Amino acid sequence: MSGRITVKSPSQLEKMRVAGRLVGETLNYLEKLVEVGISTYELDREAEAFIRKHGGVPSFLNYEGYPASICTSINEVVVHGIPNKKTKLRDGDIISIDCGAIVDGWHGDAARTFLVGNVAPEVRKLVEVTRECFFLGAEQAVEGNHLIDIARAVETHAKEYGYGVIRDMVGHGIGTSMHEPPEVPNYVDPRMGKGVKLTRGMTLAVEPMIALGTWRIVIGRDGWTCSTADGKPAAHYENTLIVGENACEVLTLV
Ligand code: MF3
Ligand code: CO
Repeated sequence: MSGRITVKSPSQLEKMRVAGRLVGETLNYLEKLVEVGISTYELDREAEAFIRKHGGVPSFLNYEGYPASICTSINEVVVHGIPNKKTKLRDGDIISIDCGAIVDGWHGDAARTFLVGNVAPEVRKLVEVTRECFFLGAEQAVEGNHLIDIARAVETHAKEYGYGVIRDMVGHGIGTSMHEPPEVPNYVDPRMGKGVKLTRGMTLAVEPMIALGTWRIVIGRDGWTCSTADGKPAAHYENTLIVGENACEVLTLV
């Protein structure tokens, strides 16, 4: 992530709305397919077809060599799980689906964690609180605030439940690239300072990744799969948003 933080013009924001909407619609479509027995490969095929049918290009495909159009991260997998034919959803699983699309040169990026059948109450709670963490962070994405305000809101809520906040993966600016500056952490570190001041028209992907246990992660042998070090489940909830004067505008929720 190099270069400067960009503030998008009204016509650029309009293009980001279009891309964001497609990502949101793709996730809504996938949500209906999530059930016991479907493979993560099938979900990936459906996602790519849906994105292309609606005039988009999947942004993850071939990104730094990533081999699929979505990330499918089950239970202890935090992010970047690679879809495959062998992995089928089972009763009690949670699956985080992360999806990105480019429309007319502009990016949208979002993730949700879905429940498969009967999920243990403590895991359902984790999923619900992770979603709440996003909205509390997003509430802070207003002009005059700093990045630390988003981070603090997310971290404070997660810690109330004793959850681990993933530190090695962060949110990001987004625009004509999926990853633009600034980085958007979900935790506060005194060494970090306040972070940049937020301005209307900045576009960010805010993405709390929250674990039932430790925040420490391990990367699998495939070089992508990111799992919790203790094997406990983790949830992910992400949206692309525009920083506003009094409130942000979430682009990937439709
Ligand atoms: N959506 C992820 C993010 O927020 C990116 C997925 S990584 C990829 O950074 F390689 F799959 F593209
Ligand atoms: Co992202």
